[in-house]
This record gives sequence, structure tokens and C-alpha cells, in this order.
Amino acid sequence: MSMASTSLPGGTWTLGDLTVTRFGYGAMQLAGPWVMGPPADHDGALAVLREAVELGITHIDTADAYGPHVTNLLIREALHPYPASLHIVTKVGANRDQQGGWPPARDPESLRRSVHENLENLGLDVLGLVNLRLGNAEGPQPGSVAEAFETLVELQQQGLIRHLGLSNATPEQVAEAQTIAPIVCVQNMYNLAHRQDDKLIDALADQGIAYVPFFPLGGFSPLQSSVLSTVAARLEAAPMSVALAWLLQRSPNILLIPGTSSTTHLRENIAGAGLSVSNDDLAELDKIGR
Ligand SMILES: NC(=O)c1ccc[n+]([C@@H]2O[C@H](COP(=O)([O-])OP(=O)(O)OC[C@H]3O[C@@H](n4cnc5c(N)ncnc54)[C@H](OP(=O)(O)O)[C@@H]3O)[C@@H](O)[C@H]2O)c1
Repeated sequence: MSMASTSLPGGTWTLGDLTVTRFGYGAMQLAGPWVMGPPADHDGALAVLREAVELGITHIDTADAYGPHVTNLLIREALHPYPASLHIVTKVGANRDQQGGWPPARDPESLRRSVHENLENLGLDVLGLVNLRLGNAEGPQPGSVAEAFETLVELQQQGLIRHLGLSNATPEQVAEAQTIAPIVCVQNMYNLAHRQDDKLIDALADQGIAYVPFFPLGGFSPLQSSVLSTVAARLEAAPMSVALAWLLQRSPNILLIPGTSSTTHLRENIAGAGLSVSNDDLAELDKIGR
């Protein structure tokens, strides 16, 4: 972790050879309701992306399945040609169906197609970081990742992908992938109320690998807890701010990708993530997810 090159809370982290701000931006919620179709406010979505970069964020998380294609095309419209400092992290391994579901698409042909669609829609020659999205909407599911991960390694060797990561993965799948090729991050669901990855986070920190919690604010069901409200009131801060500050203080390898379709919330979240939460308050917040 380094504080030198950014004024954003948490400083920076290096994913392989890509330095990113620990405070990033998750672009999923920019698509329409339930991540299907275009946003209600197209210009508003472009404004959020541009503001994120203007405020110094250098890590945007996306996937071509968002919309599908909608979020990547918005990122391209808002920000292309990209500043050299900006790194866009995408994921492959799931499609969308007519009902808005996320059926797995991890066979080699689907993965190759998805990498090419991400390149095309984002307007890139090389994807900086691609996460292989595993499991299903219920969460990580056991099973070998070898065939799918090896397909991404081939695409990496062809120069289409710089770094690899896993998403929605079990610790066993993380270990299995690491026997095949290095990974630079794991992106799983984790927040104040969902602490199932505590051990994994610490193990990844020991290896210098980033952990990127998705749904840091609770996702489609915003975090609600009387303990969180009490601590937030004591700090005269919004509960969302405390949730983000807690994550940054939880471990130096945690990178934030909170989502928002509002420039006001974006600015609130950046300011809030910099809150200093005392050890006593941290101990109280710890009770939420235990
Ligand atoms: N790997 C995976 O399988 C996976 C799954 C899900 C998500 N993700 C990634 O994780 C990122 C984050 O997830 P997420 O956006 O779904 O969930 P989130 O960051 O936990 O929460 C986003 C929700 O919180 C609201 N919000 C944000 N700031 C707020 C504030 N200051 N006050 C009140 N409400 C606030 C947003 O509404 P407003 O728009 O009104 O601000 C939005 O509805 C996504 O963008 C995506 O890139 C990955």
C-alpha cells in the first residue's frame, strides 16, 4: 500500500504491475433495473463515470454481462481514449438470459468469445485484468476451475489479457487456480454483515494478492444494522461511509468498488471511506457479521 500518488482514502495497491487507487468504482449499477438494458439517465451515467476519473479513481470494475454490453459501452463512451493511469477490470464466465438470470458460460468457446466482446466493447487491445466469474447467484460452488482458467491463461499468453483473477470463488478454487498460473485478485461478496471470507482475506494479504469485495454496501439490499446505525451516529457519519471505512481498515489488500449511479453518492462515499474508525468502534462493528 502506498499513500504517495493519490489523495483518495486508502492510497494505492498494485495488481501485478497495475497501480490502482484502493478506492475504485463498480459500474454494474449503471445499466438498467436488475442490470438489464440501458440506464434511465444515459447522460447521468456518463457523468458518474467521468466524475469518478476526475476525482482520481483509477480502478473501474465492470463486465460485458452488465446490460448485457450496456455498462462497457457506457464506459467507452464516457472515457475513451482512456487515461494511462486508468485500469478497467472486467469479468467473464456468465451470460444473461431473457429473465435477467446469470447462466454460467465457462466453456472455452464462451470464454474466448467474451474476452473478444469485452475488448471490442471497451475499445481496448489488451484487457488489464480479467476475473473468471465462478459459482452462481447463490454464491461460490465447489468444482474444478482448471479447464476454464487454462482457457484464460491461453488468452493471456496470446497477449489479450495482462492479469488474471477469480470471482465468486471458494478458497479451494483459488488454490487450484494458483497451481496453474498466478492471480492478482479475488473478487467475492463480502461486507460488514457477510464475513465468510475472513480467513481467505488474511491468507491473500500474506501473499500480496488483492481482495475486492463485491456488494460492499450490501448490493441490491443495502446494509441495515442497528449496530452500524449507532456507530455511524456516534461518528456523525452516514452508515454507508462507516461500512466503506471499515473495509479499508479491515485489511490493506482490500480494494473498494462501491457502485452508485449518483455523483452525490460517489462524492459522499469517497469522503466517508476516509473516516478514521477507532478500535472500540471497530470491535463493535465486528459483532455485526459474527
Ligand atoms: N463478481 C460478481 O459476481 C459481482 C456481483 C455483483 C457486483 N459486482 C461488482 O461489485 C460492484 C459493487 O456492487 P453493487 O454496486 O451491486 O453494490 P454496492 O456497492 O454494495 O451497493 C450499490 C448500491 O448502494 C447504493 N449506494 C451507493 N452509495 C450510496 C450512498 N452513499 N448512500 C445511499 N445509497 C448508496 C447505490 O444506489 P445509488 O445508485 O442510488 O447510489 C446502489 O444501489 C458492482 O458495481 C460490480 O462491479 C460483482
